[in-house]
Amino acid sequence: MSAEGTGLFIAFEGGDGAGKSTQSALLAEALRKRGLTVVQTREPGGTEIGEKLRSLVLDHGHGEIDARTEALMYAAARAAHVEQLIRPALARGEAVITDRYIDSSVAYQGIGRDLGTEEIRQLNSWATASLWPDFTVILDVDPVEGRARRAPGGEDRLESEPDTFHAQVRQAFLDAAEAAPERYLVIDARQDVETISEAILRRVDEVFAARRQRAAAVPGGQG
Ligand code: TMP
Repeated sequence: MSAEGTGLFIAFEGGDGAGKSTQSALLAEALRKRGLTVVQTREPGGTEIGEKLRSLVLDHGHGEIDARTEALMYAAARAAHVEQLIRPALARGEAVITDRYIDSSVAYQGIGRDLGTEEIRQLNSWATASLWPDFTVILDVDPVEGRARRAPGGEDRLESEPDTFHAQVRQAFLDAAEAAPERYLVIDARQDVETISEAILRRVDEVFAARRQRAAAVPGGQG
């Protein structure tokens, strides 16, 4: 199931250092210029409990966090995010842009931590009562390059995993897109910021146009 109401739900995914926050901010700005109300948010986070879980799962110094506990912490943060922020915004007809969503768990915990993609999908389907984005942008970056592009400062728990881990994560994102190309846009993150943001906006316009067509085809639907 995809987003509900008339709102539009867009996720940005990709490896660390791919430029997701820059691009999600640019898309939010472009949609606001068109008169839409936009909620720009991130995972883990977006709610008070989500931000607390973010520190617990990402900061070093909380002792060992095994793979299943890690997966549940991301899923718990996501459940709060959907219930408290995303669903209400979509029900009001707003656009929600999130920096990471379920595909991050599938890639990092399902593949990176080897917990299984189907298991992680099911866990997150339950956590979100099956709320999937209308559309997902994957900013594809080589892990070595991603590491070099990241803002200087300490690496969090996941960032400090080796390049082989991040290479598996990268492949998992590409596999997700290949399995459902109509719901994804994969972009080479090495292109310049403007080229990327224009490509994303073009695709979002297509999603809007398809939605308008569907609505017009339904008797009594919004034209
Ligand atoms: P970021 O918001 O700075 O990208 O940091 C989030 C980190 O958490 C990033 O390394 C990816 C990781 N992550 C997961 O492992 N699973 C998840 O479900 C999410 C949302 C993020």
